[in-house]
This record gives sequence, structure tokens and C-alpha cells, in this order.
Amino acid sequence: MFKNHHGMEYFKQLLLTIVLVLLERTLATPRDLPHSNCNNKRIVNSFTTIDYVWTNWTERQVAIGNEEYIPENNIISGLKIFEGDAYVTVPRWRRGVPSTLNKVVKIKGKSVLQPFPSWEMQKIGNCHALQYVHSMEIDPNTGWMWIIDTGRINFFAADGTPTQSLCPAKIVIYDMKKMKEVTRHVFPNYVANRNVTFLNDIVVMYRRSRARYAVISDAFAYRMVVYDLLRNRSHYFSHPSMLPEPGNGNITILGETLSVSAGINGLALSADMMYVYYGPVSGYSLYQVPSRVVRQPRGRFARYVRKVGNKPSQAAGMAYSRSNHLYFPALELNSIFRWDINRDRKSQRKSVTNVMMKSVSPILRSDTCMNFVDILTFDTEGYLWFTVNKLHKYVLKSMDFTGSDGPNVLIWKIYVGELGYLDRRRNVKLPEININAFPDSLSRFYTSIFRYVFARKFH
Ligand SMILES: *[C@@H]1O[C@H](CO)[C@@H](O)[C@H](O)[C@H]1NC(C)=O
Ligand SMILES: *[C@@H]1O[C@H](CO)[C@@H](O)[C@H](O)[C@H]1NC(C)=O
Ligand SMILES: *[C@@H]1O[C@H](CO)[C@@H](O)[C@H](O)[C@H]1NC(C)=O
Ligand SMILES: *[C@@H]1O[C@H](CO)[C@@H](O)[C@H](O)[C@H]1NC(C)=O
Repeated sequence: MFKNHHGMEYFKQLLLTIVLVLLERTLATPRDLPHSNCNNKRIVNSFTTIDYVWTNWTERQVAIGNEEYIPENNIISGLKIFEGDAYVTVPRWRRGVPSTLNKVVKIKGKSVLQPFPSWEMQKIGNCHALQYVHSMEIDPNTGWMWIIDTGRINFFAADGTPTQSLCPAKIVIYDMKKMKEVTRHVFPNYVANRNVTFLNDIVVMYRRSRARYAVISDAFAYRMVVYDLLRNRSHYFSHPSMLPEPGNGNITILGETLSVSAGINGLALSADMMYVYYGPVSGYSLYQVPSRVVRQPRGRFARYVRKVGNKPSQAAGMAYSRSNHLYFPALELNSIFRWDINRDRKSQRKSVTNVMMKSVSPILRSDTCMNFVDILTFDTEGYLWFTVNKLHKYVLKSMDFTGSDGPNVLIWKIYVGELGYLDRRRNVKLPEININAFPDSLSRFYTSIFRYVFARKFH
């Protein structure tokens, strides 16, 4: 009798373990969306090729004729939202990108790009204008756009065109309400080397109710660059964590492998402004460093940086919400995942300084319409927006511009009921949704067994 009871306990334990493993597997495999044509109503803009708002048809034909505009070299990467409008960057990786910073507009139902703030500001070779913009941040509290310009173009040329280091890298702050420049800072060569730099991503840091610092990733120099608006100064950090992880640079998306050796790229900043997060594109690690260290030109970076965990797959962009959720893509899984930091803090009984990344759950997946989720950002209404750009295909030159392989660039907008890290408004009430409620029938099945076993075990 006693023996029998023991055997039963063992059996229950075994069953529980199996169920837990199955459950974990199921949750880690988000279901695909049944929209093969990418006509999902959460997709707000869809592009086969990227086109612009020209004065007239002749102007466009002339631009194509003199190769100022080479349609298949244009692809959207960066994305930010302001007053309901999407602002996007078109990196000048290759020749023929007429405008690197733009607003998305619709003309007769077709999504096209309107150069922002003007065509004037897109002139190649004019160092007052923008040369290569990969990312910008928009402060929803002030309407200021913080624009980073690498100053170099053609660094992923596929036709042998040499890289041109045209201008020193700079940051330009632009008031979107008054439509005028607030200030700019040209990075000294020792901070952003004119022949090497690639300013990739930016977060803006508040200090006592004012946006004061910009933290920027330099993807080619493997640096974190910091700009202090108040002092009109900049400095940088380098650290082994900013390098690509050896052997982790093969990103396979639906059978196509992009082999990249890329380090620090996407950045995030906690909503309380206390911690900066980053990680390499070629790798899985996510790192955290205290902002107070980053702000100081002589901050002891190596002493305070720490790895918080591994992501399920490689990724570029990241977005931190006011509810302490960190959203990031998983490129090989055509998915977006979310790290619930508060949940991990509670379950591990740890503070933000030593919590490990464990509660990472899939939010959305589509094998057809989420191939290479690049940049994620929040608007002020509770939506998470993101760009999808098949970047692996662009780099591998396998992108189909005829449209028979579906659209190449998508801008998605999904309701998550959260606000971005920069939003300083108080008492904003948003309708809540249960983001974990994406159960397919299988996971519901496992969940019910799980409940059953648990109930038995602790009865
Ligand atoms: C088209 O626009 C260009 C540039 O603004 C202008 O110079 C040209 O006269 C226009 N052509 C026509 C046919 O309207
Ligand atoms: C960049 O490279 C060019 C050509 O090699 C060289 O003449 C120039 O001094 C370099 N500039 C800097 C700032 O290192
Ligand atoms: C910032 O400093 C540079 C010199 O380092 C100077 O040329 C520039 O005018 C300064 N900008 C402002 C807004 O003070
Ligand atoms: C790609 O995979 C091969 C074989 O495993 C490995 O040797 C190589 O280092 C990987 N490439 C990158 C960029 O990580």
C-alpha cells in the first residue's frame, strides 16, 4: 500500500514534468497568422517598391534616368510615430536613394514617401543636409525629432560602388510642431570616426523632466556613443559585449541564410530612465548597463555592464514599454517576443540590477508577413508599430520587386495597450488586453492537463 502510493507520486511527478516540457514547447511556438496575402487589417502600409512624392512625372523619370533614384535599392528600416503619422528612414546602403528621412503618406490608396523635413535636407554631399539616417527618436512630450546622421553612404553596395565618407556624423534635433531645427551637434572624429562610423539606433534619456542625453549605437565601430544636449558634448564606450558573438551570425529565415558579423545594434531604455539595454545582431545576448554609468564620460562601463540572458533568436530593434515590458523580434522565428521584467523580478525575488531574463513569451508570429521584423516603436494610443522589410533578401539580392512574392516592406500596427518608455503623460487610461491570450487549441489542451495535474498534486 505504502509502496503503491509512492509509485503514484512518482508517476504524477513524471506526468507533470512531461506536461511542463510540452507546455513550454507550445508557448515557445507562436501560431502563424492565416493571412498569406498580408491583407491583415493591422498592416497599415504595404510596399513592393519604395516610391516618393515627386513634383511631377517628369521629375521622377529624370531621377530614374540619372540614377538618383534606383527603386530596388530603396528599403525602409527605421520607424517612429508622431500624431498618427509614420516617419521612416531609407538607409543609403546603396546608390539611388533620393531621400533618407521621410513621412509615409497615401496617394490614391498607394503608400509613398514624402521627404522630411524637405527635399532640400536630403542633398547628397551637402553636410548641412542629411546623408544617411538609419534611426531617429521622436519625443512625444515635445514633438522633437532626434535624428542621427552617419554622414557616410553606399556601405552595403552590391555593384562595387565605393563607400563614400562624405560628412562627419551628426545629430540634429528638429521641432516637428514649429517645423524648425532646435540644435545640432557634429560628432568629433574621436567619438565617431569619419571613415568607420555607422550610427544605427538611438534612445533619448530624460534627466529631471528634460530630455538631455541621446544614447546611440555605432554598429561598425562597436561603440555606444552618448550625446549630452545640455553641455553640447559627446563621448563613447567600447566593450567586448558590443562585438558580434563568434559563430552566431547565421540568420536563417525560411531556408535563406544571411551570414552577418554585426555587433551592437538595437537599443532600449527603461521607462524610469535607469537602464540601457543592448545586444549584438549576430548573437543572442541581451545586456544591461546603468544609465548613470553611461552618462559619465569616464563611467566605469566594464564594471557595471551585465548580461541579463539570451533571446530566442537574433534580432535588431527593441522597444521598452512603460509597463516594463521589453519587445524584440526573433528573426529566425518570424516572431515578436516580449520579456516581462516585473514578472521575473517577482518570481526570482530580485531587483532590476540582478534579475535574469526568463519570462520571454511570443506575442505575434507570421511566417508570411513577418519576415525580418526590423524596428519596433509605440505610439501614444497603446499600439506597437513595427517595420518588416525582408532585409535578408535585400542583402542577398533575392528580393522580388515584381510583386509576385508579395509585398517587400510592411508597416504593422498592433494593439498592446501599452505606452513607450519616453511618454511622460500622467493618468493615461488605455483599454487593457490580455496579450497572452493567443492560445491555439493545442496550448489550451496542455494548459488544462497542466491545471489538472497541479490541482491533484497540491490537493
Ligand atoms: C516638373 O517639376 C520640376 C521640378 O520642380 C520643374 O522644374 C518642371 O518644370 C516640372 N515639369 C512639368 C512638366 O511640370
Ligand atoms: C579617412 O580616409 C581618408 C582616405 O584614406 C584619409 O585621407 C582621411 O584622413 C581619413 N579621415 C579620418 C578622419 O580618419
Ligand atoms: C557645439 O560645440 C561646437 C564645437 O564643439 C560648436 O561649433 C557649436 O556651435 C556648438 N553648438 C551649440 C548649439 O552651442
Ligand atoms: C555560420 O556557420 C558556420 C558553420 O557553423 C560558422 O563556421 C560561421 O562562423 C557562421 N557564421 C557567422 C557569421 O557566424
